[in-house]
Amino acid sequence: MGRKILIAGNWKMNGLLADGTNLAKGVAEAAKKLGKPQCEFLVCPPFTLLTSVKKALRGAKVALGAQDCHFAEKGAHTGDISPVMLKDCGCQYVILGHSERRANHGESSELVNVKAQAAHAQGLKTIICVGETLAERDEGRALEVCTTQILDSVPESSTWQDTVIAYEPVWAIGTGKIPTTADVEEVHKAIRKTLAKKLGKSNANRMRILYGGSVKPNNAKELLSLEDVDGALIGGASLKVEDFLGIAQNAGVC
Ligand code: 13P
Repeated sequence: MGRKILIAGNWKMNGLLADGTNLAKGVAEAAKKLGKPQCEFLVCPPFTLLTSVKKALRGAKVALGAQDCHFAEKGAHTGDISPVMLKDCGCQYVILGHSERRANHGESSELVNVKAQAAHAQGLKTIICVGETLAERDEGRALEVCTTQILDSVPESSTWQDTVIAYEPVWAIGTGKIPTTADVEEVHKAIRKTLAKKLGKSNANRMRILYGGSVKPNNAKELLSLEDVDGALIGGASLKVEDFLGIAQNAGVC
């Protein structure tokens, strides 16, 4: 279907001015040497580093994203950051509904949906995250949980151009454990089927579905060669230039 592979780094709550800027410079340099047209790089640093990382990425084909946003444009929302502010910092992407936000901040799929609409209205692309817990997988509910999260979190007006999905099994995040390739492919296929029902076949076939959860250079090839896996959302391994770019290289797509 010619979907462009997205190699995305979610830095989470990591990075100070000096090391964050250095990391971004390293990614920028390395991406210049790789960078096939069918591959896109993205880094999502914490809010505090967006402006300096944007500068460090100048001239490189690496997109900038944030890790969350509020649904309002501005106003009395202490501690929050709006989609307009993200655009102003040079962001093209925003991650929404990460399981750490769902768990630590009680974010519901309905809230993620409203945030996504607000982000799209400002021209930001969203990476909407879904994924089951270990208990849900053990109960045989992984597909049901992920498809319900898709139905509730993805706005009806979404298109393949403004939305990326990330399947991140909660139990695979930061644990070194990954599902079998058959399980990954099963969930990705179910997600695409659900997207087809909600957004139409053409959008579903072109929309990218990333896998996230303990992606490393040594397992990237296996994961990224799956038919319905269109890239990776990388946590820990995105904090080291050689690991982040190693994932892209080992996947043989960039
Ligand atoms: P790890 O790659 O550290 O498992 O984190 C994955 C993740 O949560 C990316 O959003």
